[in-house]
Amino acid sequence: MNDRLHTRVGNIALKNPVICGAGEHTMTGDAIRAALRHGAAAVVAKSTNESQAAKDQLDRTDYALFDAHWNPVPWHTAESRDATLFCRSGLVQREFDGWLDELAALDREAAASDAYVIPSLILSDLEQCARYAAQIEQAGLRVLEVNIGAPHGEEASKGAIRLERDAARIATIVSRLRASTRLPLWIKLTGQSEDVTGIAAAAQASGADAVVLMGRFMGFLPDLESQAPVLGTNAAIGGGWSLPLTARWIALARRRLGAAYPLIATNGARNGLDVARFLLAGATATEMTSAVFTSGYAALSDAIAELNAYLDSRGQCASRILGRAADQIESYQQQEARPGHWRCFAPASE
Ligand SMILES: Cc1cc2nc3c(=O)[nH]c(=O)nc-3n(C[C@H](O)[C@H](O)[C@H](O)COP(=O)(O)O)c2cc1C
Repeated sequence: MNDRLHTRVGNIALKNPVICGAGEHTMTGDAIRAALRHGAAAVVAKSTNESQAAKDQLDRTDYALFDAHWNPVPWHTAESRDATLFCRSGLVQREFDGWLDELAALDREAAASDAYVIPSLILSDLEQCARYAAQIEQAGLRVLEVNIGAPHGEEASKGAIRLERDAARIATIVSRLRASTRLPLWIKLTGQSEDVTGIAAAAQASGADAVVLMGRFMGFLPDLESQAPVLGTNAAIGGGWSLPLTARWIALARRRLGAAYPLIATNGARNGLDVARFLLAGATATEMTSAVFTSGYAALSDAIAELNAYLDSRGQCASRILGRAADQIESYQQQEARPGHWRCFAPASE
């Protein structure tokens, strides 16, 4: 293990902070193996739940990639890695027991290369979710991620995918899941809340071992040619531009939940320098999803190499820079109190 990249999510030691996040690119055994071959410290498998409607939604997925001016961008090119992804998605269509057995075997394989394969549940019915969590532990998997803030929650068939925003309800959900398994429990939360740190604190207080911040937003994009909605619908949207929004909530969560509590970033990382930015914001690991989905698994190995080069050039290690920038954030008022602080940026002249 390269000590420079070594990090921890609670009791789980990771060989580097790069996790391959859940998506269509982690939906089969071969796909998960590809992510592991590219050095990801962990791979979160495409989520599942018991809802047939959520599974059926996978047959109606649709994706569009755009540049900063909303012009279409081709897939699987250098450009696509940095593009904005607008999409609707569904859940894995495999029957649960077979999927679980395959993930348990993959996780055993991953352990041989010091990595993890992590099953992911998306909340539909809470009691069923708790039963699945217990089964996942019995199958020998070592970590569980549960997404209770999937952006599509309010567009999908009623109850198929839940988007939870209420702290009291989140406390009930996490407590129930905590009671059903002793596995390290990573709870993925929405960013579509006015109080992301409040819901993160509720998850922490109810027994989550880590929180994953933050799910993507929903968007609507009018198409100039057809004058109709792109993809015909509202859909989830994300891009590199999400990074500062996610980083802010990570930094605020670090302050509220304490520097020792593990935070995992999702939403905005496109390369290894972005993983460094999330470390500086206080995220002990970063899930990369769209970059892998749109440009291939090399996004993972490239990110690990880039992060390593950044840290090496500064003689630093990942754990030492954790939260370093977050801990220096000043309020406007604190800055105003410091004489000589202000610099005036004039617009560039002709
Ligand atoms: C096509 C696609 C499918 C996704 N499927 C899942 C999923 O099954 N479960 C889940 O928890 N998140 C899912 N996500 C969300 C991602 O894991 C991730 O949180 C989000 O895309 C933001 O990270 P990124 O900026 O690295 O893409 C999906 C995202 C995309 C783009």
